[in-house]
Amino acid sequence: MRKGQILLIGGVVFFSFGILGQSPAFSEGALDVGKGIYEKRCGVCHGHDGKADNGAQEFLYPKPRDLTAGKFKIRSTPSGSLPTNEDLLKTIANGIAGTSMPSWRSIPEKERRALVEYIKSFDERFKTQPRKPIPIGPPPPRTPEIMAKGKQLYQDAGCNDCHGTTGQGDGPSAGTLKDDWGNLITPYDFTKGGRYKAGSSVRDIYRTFTTGMAGTPMPSYADSLAEDQRWALAYYVQSLSKQPTGPAPKEEATVTSKFIKGDLSAPDPASPIWKRAPAVDILLRPLWFKEGYVDQVRVRSLHNGKEIAFLLEWEDPTKNTDLQKLEAFRDAAALQFPTKADGVPSFPMGETGQVVNIWQWKADWEANGRGPVENLAAARFSTLTTQLSQDVKGKGIWREGKWRVAFSRPMAGGEETAKFAPGKVVPVAFAVWNGAISQQDGEKSVSTWSFLKIETPGR
Ligand code: HEC
Ligand code: HEC
Repeated sequence: MRKGQILLIGGVVFFSFGILGQSPAFSEGALDVGKGIYEKRCGVCHGHDGKADNGAQEFLYPKPRDLTAGKFKIRSTPSGSLPTNEDLLKTIANGIAGTSMPSWRSIPEKERRALVEYIKSFDERFKTQPRKPIPIGPPPPRTPEIMAKGKQLYQDAGCNDCHGTTGQGDGPSAGTLKDDWGNLITPYDFTKGGRYKAGSSVRDIYRTFTTGMAGTPMPSYADSLAEDQRWALAYYVQSLSKQPTGPAPKEEATVTSKFIKGDLSAPDPASPIWKRAPAVDILLRPLWFKEGYVDQVRVRSLHNGKEIAFLLEWEDPTKNTDLQKLEAFRDAAALQFPTKADGVPSFPMGETGQVVNIWQWKADWEANGRGPVENLAAARFSTLTTQLSQDVKGKGIWREGKWRVAFSRPMAGGEETAKFAPGKVVPVAFAVWNGAISQQDGEKSVSTWSFLKIETPGR
C-alpha cells in the first residue's frame, strides 16, 4: 500500500508517523503528540481528561479505566505501586484480552511513548517514580512434583474460593466480587486459555499473582507465598487450559477484495467461488463481556467490478433464529463502513457526529424468509436508524457449529452509504451477536477498523 493511500483512507485517524513528523505539533514536544493521539484514539472510551466519564462507559463492560485513579492491573511493580513506562507501553501494544480495549501496536513506538507521557499527565502521582519491577528469575523446570504441589497449593492458598475448585471462575465468592468502582467482576476462568489480561506464559502468570491486580479483588501473593510455591501455582493454573494453537487472529488487518469474472448478485455462502478469495481471521472483542462471546471472524471478499460480496464465518455452537420463544435472542452479524473517505470514527460505532454505514444480517429474518440484511446508518454507540435503500442482499447457513453468511451489494452505493471502486482502500469493521448468551444491540463482539483493498482487474 502506498503512503498516499494511507493518508487518503485514514484521514486524521490512521495517520502514519511520517505525516505526523511533519506536523508542527511534533516539535512542540511529546506531550502534544501524545495528546493528539489520545484524543483521536483513546478519549472515546477513557474520556477527554482520562476520567472515563463521557457516557460511552454505559455501553462497555468491563468499564474503561479511570486513568486518574492510579490503579493499574498490568504491572511489573509491587502491589501499591504505579506501573513503569514499559508496563504501560506493553498494555497499549497488546490491548487487554476479553475486554473492549484494543491493541494499538499499529501506532509507531515513538508515538506510543508520547502517549504514555500524556496519560501519565492525568495523574499527579506519576510525578514520583514507580517502585522497581519485581525481579523474576528463570522458571524452574516443569516436573510432576511441581504440578502436584501447585494443585495442592491452589486449594491451600484459597484460589478456589474465587476461581473455583476446577478453575472455572465459579468459586463460592465468585458471584459477589466487585472492583474498586463497585462493578461486578468475574474471577478468571482458567479453563479458557489465551484470555489472560497480563499475559499467558508461566512467567506472566507468576508475575500477575505476585503483583496482584490493582482495583480488583485479585490479591498480591508476594508476601504470603514463597517463590517456589508461586512457580508451582503458575504451572498448575496454566495447565488447566489448552494453549492456543495456530496463528492468532489479526487486529487492524487488510482484507483483499479479489476481482473475479462472475455473477455476485445472489450471495451464496456455499458457493465454491469463495475458494478464490483469501481468508483473513479477524479478532473480535466484547463490548460487554459475557462468557460465550464470539472472539474471531473469518472474512473473505470478492468483486466483479459491478457488485462487491463478503463472506463471514464464525463458530457458534447454537443456532438462534427464533425470536418467538420467551427470552429469545437472535444470532446476527454486521459489516461497518465509514461513509466519508476522510471521516473514519475513532472506534467502530464509537464517536458522535460521524456516520457509519452498517449492513446487519439477522438470523431470524433469514428464517422468516425476509431479506435478511438491514442497511443502516449509525452515529454513536447503540444508535441505529434505517433510512437507506435496502440494496444489500445476504444469505446465512448454519452447519456443524458454524455460521457462514454471505453479503453482496452494487459497488456504487446510494447517499450515506459506503462507496467501493477498484483500486480503492476502504476501512471496514465487523460485529457478531450471539443469541445464545442474550446479546443484542450494543452487547456484541466487535473488531477495530481493518482495511478492504479492492483489487484492480487484470492485476
Ligand atoms: C473501546 C474502548 C477503549 C479504547 C478506544 C481504549 N481503551 Fe483503554 N481500556 C478500555 C477498557 C475497557 C479498559 C479496562 C479493562 C479492564 O479493566 O479489564 C482499559 C484499560 C486501559 C488501561 C489500564 C491498564 C491496566 O493496567 O489496568 C490503560 C493504560 C489504557 N486502557 C490505555 C488506553 C490508551 C492509551 C488508549 C488509546 C490508544 C486506549 N486505552 C483506548 C477500553 C478502551
Ligand atoms: C478474592 C478473590 C480472588 C482470589 C482469592 C484469587 N483471585 Fe485470582 N482473580 C480474581 C479476579 C476477580 C480476577 C479477575 C481480574 C480482572 O479480570 O480484572 C482474577 C484473575 C486472576 C488471574 C488472571 C490474570 C490475567 O492476566 O487476566 C490469575 C492468573 C489469577 N487470578 C490467579 C490466582 C491464583 C493463582 C490465586 C490463588 C493464589 C488467586 N488468583 C486468588 C479474584 C481472586
